[in-house]
Amino acid sequence: MSEPVAPSTRPTMESVVSLCRRRGFIFQSSEIYGGINGFWDYGPLGTALKRNLKQAWWSDVVERELIGPDGNAVDIVGVDCTIIMNPKTWIASGHVGGFNDPMVDCRESKARYRADHLVVIGRTAPDARLFAFLESDDDAKAKAIKTLCKYERIDSPDPASHTMRLFTTLSETDRARCVGPDASAPGSLTEPRQFSLMFKTNVGAIESDDSSAYLRPETAQGIFTNFWNVVDTSRVKVPFGIAQIGKAFRNEVTPRNFTFRSREFEQMEIEFFIRPESAPEWYRWWRDERFRWWQSIGLGSGNLILREHDRDELAHYAKEGAGTSDIEYRFPFTAPGFGELEGIAHRADFDLKAHATHCGKGEKLRYFDQERNERYFPHVIEPSAGADRGTLALLCEAYTPDPARASGVYMKFHPRMAPIKAAVYPLVNKEGMPEMAEGIYRSLRKKHAVEFDEKQSIGKRYARMDEAGTPFCFTVDGDSLSSGTVTVRHRDTLAQERIAADQVGSWLDDKLDSTA
Ligand code: GAP
Repeated sequence: MSEPVAPSTRPTMESVVSLCRRRGFIFQSSEIYGGINGFWDYGPLGTALKRNLKQAWWSDVVERELIGPDGNAVDIVGVDCTIIMNPKTWIASGHVGGFNDPMVDCRESKARYRADHLVVIGRTAPDARLFAFLESDDDAKAKAIKTLCKYERIDSPDPASHTMRLFTTLSETDRARCVGPDASAPGSLTEPRQFSLMFKTNVGAIESDDSSAYLRPETAQGIFTNFWNVVDTSRVKVPFGIAQIGKAFRNEVTPRNFTFRSREFEQMEIEFFIRPESAPEWYRWWRDERFRWWQSIGLGSGNLILREHDRDELAHYAKEGAGTSDIEYRFPFTAPGFGELEGIAHRADFDLKAHATHCGKGEKLRYFDQERNERYFPHVIEPSAGADRGTLALLCEAYTPDPARASGVYMKFHPRMAPIKAAVYPLVNKEGMPEMAEGIYRSLRKKHAVEFDEKQSIGKRYARMDEAGTPFCFTVDGDSLSSGTVTVRHRDTLAQERIAADQVGSWLDDKLDSTA
């Protein structure tokens, strides 16, 4: 298991959000109408970044050769399923009735909170006031402590008499003493109640219970319900996997931390079907492989950890299984702690069996292993990652303050993830330089996402590329026409070197291939 390394200089979340807005990585959805809580749009650079992440995932799990723990190439095929499925799917999967979060409302502020995310601080004495705040929100915590001190006329809480407790562990009388995070008087928080995360809609012209359907809360169930179709129509044999990238929707009680907890997001999921007895071996292999993969695309610092779940954290279907672990990233808003990027779970045969039972075919749907002449429900190892959380981790990791640069910051994306791979600039907009630069740009553009710009000073153009995270800038200068060379500026070191103008394409191919 990897050991976390002490955080180096980390950006604040405000600085990351501000760069995302300023440079067109991420905007609020429907911003001109004031936005909508929990929904985010990607601008040109953000779209390219997220697309590179998804493409790398697809290419590395579905298309490229991976050698599994049995020494054979890992076989994974793709599907692309609908967002709205037959509602019976969600009864079989346990989501209808079971996919809930506890929430509390504040009668005073009208705000709504996840009950299991609320923490209170205060004395244990029966008449003392307790002040609530959302965990991992440092500002809210500081505000709660300040209000407590003001109310009790003290300078700071005394660790011997002031305790912090989870809201969900409080008795009814203690809850009545709580002042909500955005309230001024105690007793405004309601009792916690279960809130379904499923977005409901209606299919067809008539709105009735019979026409109601759900937006999928995970892409996984489209894979499970197509398991038999894929087995019947492809040349797959256990062990094999089915992969899918797609939107998922959850009506989160408290969407927060930018795109980290959104109501509409994208998942990259693999359901890997195996013989039950090989679950521990495949589980360990997938856990390590997925951790290695996130490192390979630029999260190689000490900000990434692999965390095995404790037994009491395990989902019902994973309790007796090979295990569950999370790959977690140290986001600025979780630091010094970590937030989940991907979960790797042994789901046993829970889902296939549940669908076989609910569709009425039961045991008939057991997989037939021709080589062993045996029927069984395969077990599943599920590596389930978030594309938006992944993109956010890439943004936070890349953000590198540098007071020596005109931009004050540069985005140190792994070249494979960089939205723009290279820029081609004429030093000045005259003396044949723009024409030569445009020629190079056009030849590079046949293969790569590159940019050409002849306006503004070269310093300003470099600064823009630093903020976009472009690893290389090729500049055509006064010597280029006579010498047939251009300069290359390296984003991370600011080193410059001269290379032959007719070698720019192969030079860039080599650089990108060597980091892929
Ligand atoms: N099929 C299993 C499953 O859906 P999950 O842990 O609920 O498992 C998998 O979700 C991944 O989806 C998470 O690791 C996270 O990256 C992403 N995810 C889940 N809820 C999210 C949300 N509200 N906003 C953004 N990403 C989310």
